[in-house]
Amino acid sequence: MSIAQTTKSTAQLHCINCGATPASAAQDFRCTNCGDLLEFVFPEWSHDPQALKSLWANRKTILKPLDQSGVWRFREMLPGIAEEHAITLREGNTPLYDLPRCAHFAGLDALQAKHQGMNPTASFKDTGMTVAASSAHAGGFRWVACASTGNTSASMAAYAARGNMHSLVLIPEGKISWGKLSQSLDYGALTCQLRTDFDGCVGILNELVRRKPVYLLNSVNPYRIEGQKTAAIELMEQLEWEPPDHIIIPGGNLGNSSAIGKALLEMRDLKLISRLPKLSIIQAQGANPFYRSVTEFGGKKLDPMTADTQATAIQIGNPASWKKALRVLNATGGAVEEVSELEIAEAKAEIGADGIGCEPASAVTLAGLKKLTRKGFVKRSETVILILTGHLLKDPDFTIKFHRGDLFTGTPYEQQAAQTARLQRAPVVLDADLDAVVAALDQAESRNS
Ligand code: F0G
Repeated sequence: MSIAQTTKSTAQLHCINCGATPASAAQDFRCTNCGDLLEFVFPEWSHDPQALKSLWANRKTILKPLDQSGVWRFREMLPGIAEEHAITLREGNTPLYDLPRCAHFAGLDALQAKHQGMNPTASFKDTGMTVAASSAHAGGFRWVACASTGNTSASMAAYAARGNMHSLVLIPEGKISWGKLSQSLDYGALTCQLRTDFDGCVGILNELVRRKPVYLLNSVNPYRIEGQKTAAIELMEQLEWEPPDHIIIPGGNLGNSSAIGKALLEMRDLKLISRLPKLSIIQAQGANPFYRSVTEFGGKKLDPMTADTQATAIQIGNPASWKKALRVLNATGGAVEEVSELEIAEAKAEIGADGIGCEPASAVTLAGLKKLTRKGFVKRSETVILILTGHLLKDPDFTIKFHRGDLFTGTPYEQQAAQTARLQRAPVVLDADLDAVVAALDQAESRNS
């Protein structure tokens, strides 16, 4: 039985550029006519929105793994995959948190974050990976592969292991965090650290899939995008189907913004929601090709660049899905913004201080929101959701260096870094002496009062 049993499995591949509708995808998931990206469309969809909402709500009470998954629970909006091929770690089901301190920081009355770092491998990638890895399994592949800044590879390695497939990881040497590298090792991937950057890894992988029968699991794979859509569906359910005014998301390879935006448009078309939130995309200043594409070239072209940021997850200079992201940016009326290394570090510490925390790439959302509020694009009383993409523990190095005051040592930001000192909480090393601890406590209390 197909997973999408209540649909007639009407998913159709469609080229975003020339409109070709191939029956199946090539190894590199590019259109064989024009080389552009493919997406799934659902021409025969005719769902009753109220019936869908109750079906999805009811599944939460059912103990079957696929109904417990925060991705497969929404399978009517996914391409059909035969149930015996589904690989799930009960992904999705991520919390929506109030961030009162961050709201104040950004100049808003209230602020919420959907924490996609609360997924099984601690990043949003799991929501797309469960669908795409299942499709690899259905296709009978022995090997799956990806190029990654660390989170995709961690997620892919886990799902491949669960599905008894081998995984090949291409990562840029010295440019991903230890937390992420350790995950792909433990989940048993063949991990190749290439002496290049992420974009260089993508280039090699694109060649490799033409030579070897490996299944490509980067976000050019449209199954990834379909799975990642469910974060937006789940978010709307958590908001009782009342859309927020704004959703703010980090932009790297731009698959996630494309996915969230696609879900919003589809939910609007299916009348699951009555209006579209504005979807805004934030990039690090040192890895801002999409920001420049929109602000300098009106979205007409994208100039690849050599990316440089300590938010290593989004250190990407040639984002594959930029045209898809541009489409949803325009369709929802969102903004694009860039933020500096200092702004990222400051915003990350603020999110931590709200008792939530995230990895640096996720913190660009709060830093960008602050700028958008200052510019008047976001109003004080509007409802805003940040998408936090990765867990705090993904990159402990960054966090410890920040709190010790070492993060910007030897960088162009060394002088300005003093402005983040108020947020730093370096560990205090003391003798094993009660009076010393009491003195430290009194000192901290006097600082706080
Ligand atoms: N946030 C985190 C934590 C990420 O790992 C990524 C991307 C992004 C944001 C950006 O998402 O690429 O869809 O625009 N990480 C990829 C990886 C590229 O290989 O793990 P995007």
